[in-house]
Amino acid sequence: MKLLVRDLAQLATPAGREAPLRGAALGEVEVLEDAYVLCAGDAIEAVGRMRDLPALAGDVVEVEGRGLCAIPGLVDCHTHAAFGGDRVEEFSLRAGGASYEELHARGGGILSTVRATRAAGESGLREAVERHRGWMRAHGTTTFEAKSGYGLDRDTELASLRAIKAAGGVPTWLGAHAVPPEFDGDGDAYLDFALADVLPDAAQVAEAADVFLERGAFDAKQARRYLEACRDAGLALRLHGDQFTEQGAIPLAVELGARSVDHLEATGDEGVRTLAASGVVGVLLPASALFLGRPMPPGRALVDAGAAVALATDFNPGSAFCESLPLCCSLAATQLKLSPAESLAACTVNAAHVLGRSDRLGRLAPGYRADVVLLDAPDWRYLAYHLGGDIVARVMVAGELG
Ligand code: NIG
Ligand code: FE
Repeated sequence: MKLLVRDLAQLATPAGREAPLRGAALGEVEVLEDAYVLCAGDAIEAVGRMRDLPALAGDVVEVEGRGLCAIPGLVDCHTHAAFGGDRVEEFSLRAGGASYEELHARGGGILSTVRATRAAGESGLREAVERHRGWMRAHGTTTFEAKSGYGLDRDTELASLRAIKAAGGVPTWLGAHAVPPEFDGDGDAYLDFALADVLPDAAQVAEAADVFLERGAFDAKQARRYLEACRDAGLALRLHGDQFTEQGAIPLAVELGARSVDHLEATGDEGVRTLAASGVVGVLLPASALFLGRPMPPGRALVDAGAAVALATDFNPGSAFCESLPLCCSLAATQLKLSPAESLAACTVNAAHVLGRSDRLGRLAPGYRADVVLLDAPDWRYLAYHLGGDIVARVMVAGELG
């Protein structure tokens, strides 16, 4: 069956075929006025201007796009959507002045979500990930990655990964997120356990592995050990790095050929240069910096230096209770000084590249999966311009219009 979205005010898509986009190419968006998108089954067959629309034979469902703009389905390449409970109490304490790192050191923070996630059980986790997927979808996210990392025991880590996969997410094993209480601060002993008892099964479900390289979490030596073992098990590599302090995450990511290094709020000039000269994508998470009242990552400097960047929400209960990529595009424009075009590429084609899917996701072009967001806006740049606005009118996933 074919589906034609017609009479669109605009259609906007990152230009070209390559990924990741960097430098000037990051900001090259192709914009068609008075446009259509034609889908056949789960794939895009054609996009173009209405005046060039060919005569269509056979069964075609037509959708009126007047007053709307089409952009590619958004790709959220960094979330922690598999968790139980919430951290609203901690949020209230932080609003009164307590710091995130202090709460973490006192056994709150990530470890309080570990307690709630273990208590949720596999069915509770499945419900949670599906609920969170619904929230993301309402904001235009058609593909999401999600990490485990709030179980930190064998059963809950594996249940988290299965729940993410069952909800259609791309699972990442964040087996080195924090040292769970039963290891009493002994990160090496915890890694002995995680690598021997969890990795073999985690590697059957997850596509990538991730580590929180930070003071109070895992150090560079431990991160290297974890990542090398995960690489040997066939997983792609990601790192949480330079969130609060520089601990060598960028050089390690480059040396190990990681897909990405994420956060970068504390990255200095040398880190910017090293990342820009590499194939590792810098994933910017401005909602997390905003939510914690932390400095923003050096987005403009990274793009100007030629780094490949992606933009993601970091959706999680503690540091970024935010599932909206459009809001992240607004923050990217106002805080990181990225243009709307650069933001669009960063949360579509470049994010798809981080997930190893840039051949099918992240563009409105023939052969790509029919993931389309229709914006209730006369200009596609409202994606970033309408701060906190209710701009997502309809979302199509694999040719199914919701
Ligand atoms: O990406 N920084 C480490 N992990 C998450 C936060 C997890 C939490 O606070 O629950 C992050 O910000
Ligand atoms: Fe994160």
